[in-house]
Amino acid sequence: MPKKPNSARAVVILENLAKTFGDPGTNKPVLEDVDLKIAQGEFVALLGASGCGKSTLLNLIAGLEEPTAGSMEIPAEGVAFMFQDATLFPWLTARGNIELALKLRGVPQPERGQRADELLKLVHLQSSGDKRPHELSGGMRQRVALARSLAQDKHVLLMDEPFAALDAITRDLLHEELERIWRHTGRTIIFVTHNVREAVRLGQRVLLLSSRPGKVIREWRIDAEQKKPEQAAVLANEMTAALRQEISRHV
Ligand SMILES: Nc1ncnc2c1ncn2[C@@H]1O[C@H](COP(=O)(O)OP(=O)(O)O)[C@@H](O)[C@H]1O
Ligand SMILES: [Mg+2]
Repeated sequence: MPKKPNSARAVVILENLAKTFGDPGTNKPVLEDVDLKIAQGEFVALLGASGCGKSTLLNLIAGLEEPTAGSMEIPAEGVAFMFQDATLFPWLTARGNIELALKLRGVPQPERGQRADELLKLVHLQSSGDKRPHELSGGMRQRVALARSLAQDKHVLLMDEPFAALDAITRDLLHEELERIWRHTGRTIIFVTHNVREAVRLGQRVLLLSSRPGKVIREWRIDAEQKKPEQAAVLANEMTAALRQEISRHV
């Protein structure tokens, strides 16, 4: 029987994590007392208002920023990151962008082509590998970016509002794709969003971040039953109310 996420080993552990930009004597912390344990294979959605510190938290986990206080454990191999903008190299094809990530990871040349084809297939782009980014739709570009972040072959994948710029139908499709890929690859995913429906749709656990300072103030565990439309709508309303209350503290 598969282990429940809360009984699985924690792969990301944050304790009393804090971050202040600039002089801590004069500037308010962006994040304070962030305590978080994320289990192997878990899909966690981090939900919070714009500017509350979601990207800062992901950047700390990714090692792109240094914490001001607290401690952090992440896998020794590091983590993979997918941003909101695909930032693909425009002069490379979809396959070329993925092969570059494989090259940077040290995969030898003869294996790269086959591995890139497998990844293109995984994101349903097997027939578009030779297209360059400007020939692809926004949704297709994000699929390439997803394949490229999977090419890094790290167990933990951080995603910072990767579908925020897409239209609703494309986003729904990508939610299905991402869920399938998560199940297929067994990755641990930390997915940042300000979209309540997206958080309920994807997360096994949704964490609500407060603003100024950002810390985890609420948590919902969501099982398959609660993802059914009626229950999901109730949960989404509850989260929206909590998010609104949090935003209204600051206006
Ligand atoms: N490099 C930085 N230097 C100074 N302030 C920053 C920096 N990065 C983020 N901030 C500030 O930290 C706060 C949180 O930003 P961010 O983490 O981007 O929020 P979110 O991703 O939730 O929208 C904002 O007030 C932002 O202006
Ligand atoms: Mg952000």
